[in-house]
Amino acid sequence: MTTPSLVPGRVAELLGPLPDDRPAYRALADGLRLLVADGRIATGTRLPSERDLTGALGVSRTTVTRAYAALRESGYVTARQGSGTVATLPTGRRGLGTGAVLYPAEVPDDVIDLTCAATRAPAGTAEAYERALAALPSYLAGAGYLTLGVPELREAIADRYTQRGAPTSADQILVTSGAVAGLASVTRALLGIGDRVLVESPGYPNSADALHRGGLRLAPVTVDPTGWDTPTVASAIAAANARAFLTIPDFHNPTGALMPDEQRAAVAHALKRAGTTPLVDETIAEIALDDRPAPRPFAAHHAGAISVGSSSKTHWGGLRTGWIRAPHKVIPALLDSRATLDLGAPVLEQLVLVELMRTTPGITATRRAELTASRDAAGTALRAALPDVRFVVPPGGLSLWLELPWTRADEVAAAAEDEGLLIAGGPRFAVGGGLGRWVRLPYVLSPETMTEAVRRLTTAVNRVREAETASGGGRQTTTRRRRGPLVA
Ligand SMILES: Cc1ncc(COP(=O)(O)O)c(C=O)c1O
Repeated sequence: MTTPSLVPGRVAELLGPLPDDRPAYRALADGLRLLVADGRIATGTRLPSERDLTGALGVSRTTVTRAYAALRESGYVTARQGSGTVATLPTGRRGLGTGAVLYPAEVPDDVIDLTCAATRAPAGTAEAYERALAALPSYLAGAGYLTLGVPELREAIADRYTQRGAPTSADQILVTSGAVAGLASVTRALLGIGDRVLVESPGYPNSADALHRGGLRLAPVTVDPTGWDTPTVASAIAAANARAFLTIPDFHNPTGALMPDEQRAAVAHALKRAGTTPLVDETIAEIALDDRPAPRPFAAHHAGAISVGSSSKTHWGGLRTGWIRAPHKVIPALLDSRATLDLGAPVLEQLVLVELMRTTPGITATRRAELTASRDAAGTALRAALPDVRFVVPPGGLSLWLELPWTRADEVAAAAEDEGLLIAGGPRFAVGGGLGRWVRLPYVLSPETMTEAVRRLTTAVNRVREAETASGGGRQTTTRRRRGPLVA
């Protein structure tokens, strides 16, 4: 693997204007440290040479030399022979995002649980179960092992891809027990221990962890709150020599960013050149909230793409039904691998999904209106109560990705728990560490509950802020340990 690099102009853009309240070298070192700690400059990325950065920032060479020296000393960069200055994290702050699996927990009624970016079942789900039950008897005569999936569902999923702009036939679809299960089958079929996989950071922790536990080596690619920076992604792809790139181009979890068609084409081009297979997680693809033309599925830009999808967010997580869409030639290997994990998804749930897709292939208009109202209620409450917490209103998806004014996300999440609000801090979404300044706020509950959630969050943020001021800014402020596992 060569080392991915950032061009000087991009570093200048990420840094923004340097504050003039401290020596210039300190301001530069602080800015770069924050970007690395936050995961906005991925660990393992080469920073520009001193000379190039001097030119891009319009500062003196000594400023850059001293800033790099300070960063080396504090462990935020290392000087590597032949690789220049490379972003790292100090020992003890690495490894977040692997082993950070999120899963549901029981919570008392007065606690607002926003660890899970998923909604209750939409109206009409129970009726779909009834209709599916009526269709079930024709399957009862068989053994019920449909390892590729119920044929009508494979047809319906293929048709949906075709409608969305990626012509697909049913024999390219393998039904799974959800997207994570699909990804596990893909990983086992196509990747081997020690293979390198590029993974977005922030990204969905359970998938990153599945890859990590499968013995793969993960290399992070940064996703900004507004989306992907094409040269940065292309450089990471070219440098990593990775077997695969795991991406969530549609309403990315947790940022909500949507990769436009032109960018999909550019990323697909870089992947083809590098011989890296796109693994595309489309779990959230149908959660568009704004009226704008949807980009085509990533597979429309890259014939070799392997996509995993799911009914969990579009319809209901309890269906436990998802799929893999892959080129024909890959299906037999996927089938072999899947047959050693489980032998098929439950028939009844697949029939329910056929029913649901027949009436509404994407989310229902009601669900869309509800999510939009909840997103907007959360946004309005945040702007009023926490004006220095920044966020981009995403065009879809299920969460706001909040940037705190300081690196205290885990403390804020712990303080929020004391206030009866469960949320996940940024480090849970990081690959290779960082993201300590971010918090994910899923807008999956009613507007009133979201407003109350922001009220509790505000109390938590202010508590951490006050404790920080009282301690002079240096100390950890919350001693209470976060309780165990949180959710998807
Ligand atoms: C990006 C992404 N992929 C996969 C999943 C899980 O999907 P499934 O329930 O189909 O396994 C989630 C759920 O949070 C998700 O956000």
